Amino acid sequence: MFLWGTATASYQIEGAAHEDGKGPSIWDTFSHEPGRTRDGHTGDVACDHYHRWPEDVALIKEAGLNAYRFSISWPRVQPSGRGAVNQAGLDFYDRLVDALCEKGIVPTPTLFHWDLPQALEDEGGWLNRDISAYFADYAAIVADRLSDRVTTWITLNEPFIHMVFGYALGIHAPGKALFLDALPAAHHQLLGHGLAVQALRGGGAERVLITNNCTPVWPASGSAEDLAAAEAYDTLHNRLFNDPLFFGTYPDFSAYGITDLDFVRTGDLETIAQPLDGLGINYYNPTRIAGPGSDGLPFTDAGITGHPTTAFGWPVVPDGLRELLVTFKARYGTALPPVYITENGCSYEGVDDQERIAFLDGHIAAVRQAQAEGVDVRGYFVWSLLDNFEWAEGYHQRFGLVHVDFDTQERTPKASYHWLREFLANQG
Ligand code: NOJ
Repeated sequence: MFLWGTATASYQIEGAAHEDGKGPSIWDTFSHEPGRTRDGHTGDVACDHYHRWPEDVALIKEAGLNAYRFSISWPRVQPSGRGAVNQAGLDFYDRLVDALCEKGIVPTPTLFHWDLPQALEDEGGWLNRDISAYFADYAAIVADRLSDRVTTWITLNEPFIHMVFGYALGIHAPGKALFLDALPAAHHQLLGHGLAVQALRGGGAERVLITNNCTPVWPASGSAEDLAAAEAYDTLHNRLFNDPLFFGTYPDFSAYGITDLDFVRTGDLETIAQPLDGLGINYYNPTRIAGPGSDGLPFTDAGITGHPTTAFGWPVVPDGLRELLVTFKARYGTALPPVYITENGCSYEGVDDQERIAFLDGHIAAVRQAQAEGVDVRGYFVWSLLDNFEWAEGYHQRFGLVHVDFDTQERTPKASYHWLREFLANQG
């Protein structure tokens, strides 16, 4: 069964930041620091999904979707990130999973979508190797509770964005600006992924995926300099998080002046390269890259012109999704498991969102084209069900199929929601 879903994440929708025994996450801390998010927005209340989830599940059902990707808040389950389990936190996801199953919607939980328990950040966060093992313990706890009903699991969400925005540039929590010294945060997330895959399988999981943010990389010109820069960017954005999964090796980082990844220990790559049942890909847009600038990195972002843009200013290039999928198939060959588009979507204002309809229509067509070209794609999830807390942008970017009035919490399905329902009904 092809999964037609929509996706959300705990910190972006749940609210109830301090309820029922939940511990603080790095996003609770970060969003309350002055100047970190636009207008000082926080996820304290967000979409109040923690209390309004039955209404939200009904919206998924009424759209005719057969899958729902949500994330589990680690500090709701383990307030300190390790040790004591908060049963009330697990109970919340237990009820949600029951409701989804009852309505015939496949629950597709992600174990980590950036809201690390603050107590673990106090121990160094993903820069600390020990966090990988704690993540696997947490995965085992959740699997023990839910794997009688959850068959499809996602370990991490976009470890690339978490490393770059959270540890290299400081735009996201935990707000560290370490530049290339952030690389251990990539390795420890991947190691945590591998250990979590083992823990999930031990706990009865049938299907395990990881979700990576991937982009087709376009050289700004055919010059040797731009071609080399594009390759260097592709290494960082795409290869760093996929080569170890499917080749069991890290790509060559010499373009960055790095020849030795000394935080990698014997056996780590074997752990990371656990067989997977699927690769989750989040696709938003291609990236156009030119030669090095003045910041010491071997590339610069040259920007894309000549395409429509979303309210976020992101270029709309549906064919980039086809290109990405075909490129991955060529690159990883038989090592590439079935692919699930675990996020694709756009930010636009308004309820009569004709641009979102065109966006989804175009990207779904691109998935079909990739299938016709031989890529095994088994799911497509729209980001997002609801307008929600868009990280450093606060509530200013609206990605939902359903509009949320953040004063009243009223949900209003947008034109795109109605379009999607019609589209799915016609699929039979
Ligand atoms: C990907 C992230 O997983 C999600 O949290 C975010 O809201 C969307 N991109 C849009 O930026």
